[in-house]
Amino acid sequence: MSRFLFPRWSNLVLPTIILAALTIPVYAVFFVAYGFSPKTLEVGYQPKQPVPFSHALHAGELGMDCRYCHTSVEKAAHASVPPTQTCMNCHTQIRPQSPKLADVRESYETGLPVEWTRIHKLPDFAYFDHSAHVNRGIGCVSCHGRIDKMEVVYQKSALSMGWCLECHRNPDPNLRPVSEITNLAYDGATELTQTERDALKKKYHISPSEDCSTCHR
Ligand code: HEC
Ligand code: HEC
Ligand code: HEC
Ligand code: HEC
Ligand code: HEC
Repeated sequence: MSRFLFPRWSNLVLPTIILAALTIPVYAVFFVAYGFSPKTLEVGYQPKQPVPFSHALHAGELGMDCRYCHTSVEKAAHASVPPTQTCMNCHTQIRPQSPKLADVRESYETGLPVEWTRIHKLPDFAYFDHSAHVNRGIGCVSCHGRIDKMEVVYQKSALSMGWCLECHRNPDPNLRPVSEITNLAYDGATELTQTERDALKKKYHISPSEDCSTCHR
């Protein structure tokens, strides 16, 4: 039939249209479902880790600074998770035989990294940068909560677009001097006056962007 109604090249066009008609809605549904899916919005997500590593012990009781292990957090987009060597700085001496450290010792011997399960993960179409935040006086606690009290880390914040924008529109309650970014007990909302916050905004040149291209590039 179509051969009489359409020129010859339409033999190729028709399958293309059908293919497009079939895939575009699927793609659109996929994009929306991905954006709204609980996987990227999982407040409370708390996977079991291969080693029972406790932030409450190491960062809380022992008072270790976050940057001892998350070394790249001030310099890069991603906050690195420490290599086994960092753990072995202490655990060659401290509890060297502990069964809880078996996977760490195995990793040290084989050179294969411990397979920590990733907790916080934005979809690929969203861009985030740690250094841009912590060097402007936004501390870990504003986004991750009291990690220094967690036996097992869980996701505290929604990490949704609305959540990002809420702070970009009004960062004031979350501001602190850069010297306090890893002090999770510090609360800028109560410790600073508005005059002091205004001074920090000026000093760090803070005016967060709401442009789409800031986070979608
Ligand atoms: C002794 C090393 C060490 C110190 C100190 C440390 N961390 Fe961690 N951190 C880890 C390791 C190992 C993991 C991966 C295992 C886990 O999730 O517990 C991790 C995971 C995390 C995660 C989750 C990463 C993900 O997968 O999304 C966050 C957030 C985090 N740390 C924040 C902090 C903060 C904030 C501090 C300071 C209060 C801190 N850490 C101090 C070693 C450390
Ligand atoms: C403004 C919010 C915000 C602040 C402040 C912040 N984080 Fe994060 N963090 C995130 C987001 C969002 C992710 C997920 C990033 C992604 O998927 O690209 C994340 C992921 C991580 C991870 C997993 C590895 C990675 O980078 O994807 C670690 C570890 C971590 N953060 C540690 C820290 C530490 C330590 C501090 C303080 C020194 C800190 N974060 C401050 C929002 C924040
Ligand atoms: C600055 C030194 C130091 C570093 C670095 C360190 N730890 Fe520890 N860790 C300790 C101390 C101290 C204890 C408590 C030991 C005790 O209770 O006698 C401990 C306890 C532990 C325990 C519990 C052991 C048991 O038998 O109860 C685990 C598991 C552990 N650490 C994992 C890690 C991992 C994984 C890393 C690297 C990401 C790491 N530690 C880095 C000092 C350290
Ligand atoms: C608690 C407050 C807060 C939250 C939450 C927050 N931001 Fe920001 N963000 C800031 C501040 C403050 C700046 C620095 C603004 C400036 O330099 O003028 C910033 C800067 C940025 C920049 C750097 C822009 C540049 O010029 O390089 C990006 C990208 C960004 N934010 C993305 C995000 C994303 C994505 C999220 C959510 C996952 C998020 N932010 C959540 C406060 C926040
Ligand atoms: C401060 C960072 C930031 C800015 C600015 C921003 N977005 Fe987003 N956007 C995000 C993050 C983070 C997600 C992922 C949220 C999730 O996984 O739930 C997202 C998700 C989306 C999605 C997927 C659907 C959804 O809602 O989850 C669309 C579409 C989108 N953004 C469009 C835009 C447009 C258009 C603009 C400009 C008007 C914009 N964004 C500005 C951070 C931002």
